[in-house]
Amino acid sequence: MKRKSTPANDQDAWPPEVRPGQSLELLKALHILTREGKLNQDARRKLKQVYHLFQFIEKPLLAMLADKLAQGDTRPLVLADHGAGKSYLGFIIHDLFFKPQALLQSRSVGQVIGIETRAALVTASQQLADQLGFAQGMRFVNASVSEATHDQALPSQVDMVTALHACDTATDDAISFGLAKHAQYMALVPCCQAEVASHLRAHKALNLSRTPLAELWRHPLHTREIGSQLTNVLRCLLLEAQGYQVTVTELVGWEHSLKNELILAQYTGQKKPSAAQRLQALLDEFGLKDMNARFSLTK
Ligand SMILES: C[S@@+](CC[C@H](N)C(=O)[O-])C[C@H]1O[C@@H](n2cnc3c(N)ncnc32)[C@H](O)[C@@H]1O
Repeated sequence: MKRKSTPANDQDAWPPEVRPGQSLELLKALHILTREGKLNQDARRKLKQVYHLFQFIEKPLLAMLADKLAQGDTRPLVLADHGAGKSYLGFIIHDLFFKPQALLQSRSVGQVIGIETRAALVTASQQLADQLGFAQGMRFVNASVSEATHDQALPSQVDMVTALHACDTATDDAISFGLAKHAQYMALVPCCQAEVASHLRAHKALNLSRTPLAELWRHPLHTREIGSQLTNVLRCLLLEAQGYQVTVTELVGWEHSLKNELILAQYTGQKKPSAAQRLQALLDEFGLKDMNARFSLTK
């Protein structure tokens, strides 16, 4: 099939997941669609995750864009996607949001910056963006999230931070990036986080003699699970302490992914001292004082 975009009158020919106006060339290049225009099971799962996340972030993007237009502010919205991988999310956001909005406004209205440590993925994403004519609204940076935070070539302010399954502590670094860049919104779907679990493990014997709470992480499986849950709780408290309103929800049904927790944060400027106190109290209760720097409020 040689068609590059979905003709309006031929929408029925494509799987229902393909949206009107969506670039078929993009979906094929990302191997979401086969050459024959079919979706396989894995691709359907991935697309479902990305669409769900997009659904959560489209509204705030629209609201921020409307604010800018109302204020006559022509600076593009900036969205930084951390641990971008093959940039499924960034490409879908560009294709479904920034591309049609640019057509409506007759100018570019936003930029997606994909941050990724694997050079080959960064090169491939940049090539694909060039090939599809998306390059004006997309750029890709070969750096770790923490390096990107201090990269002078990146904007000093971003509007939205996303991180979909950014490995281990990359989600924490994405939060630090968002705080440093005064992000209005953050949408984070954490991956497995091993750091808190490793600290719980290291001090297990001491904590078992100190507090019955340590029963929560006596068994190795529980150490991992409680470590992961505690990490996300601490992340939420950190965000609240820094002036964000936080919502935690499921990304998709649990049958689709084990890493399914979505943390949505909107900056309100109201820093919650109680969240800061609770954060510190939890670090103390769980014997995690040596993790103070990770969840530091002076970020
Ligand atoms: C599980 S993949 C997810 C990719 C993509 N977000 C998605 O959902 O398809 C995680 C990606 O994060 C990248 N990564 C891991 N640690 C990182 C870091 N500290 N900074 C930037 N990228 C990182 C990995 O190379 C990998 O491509």
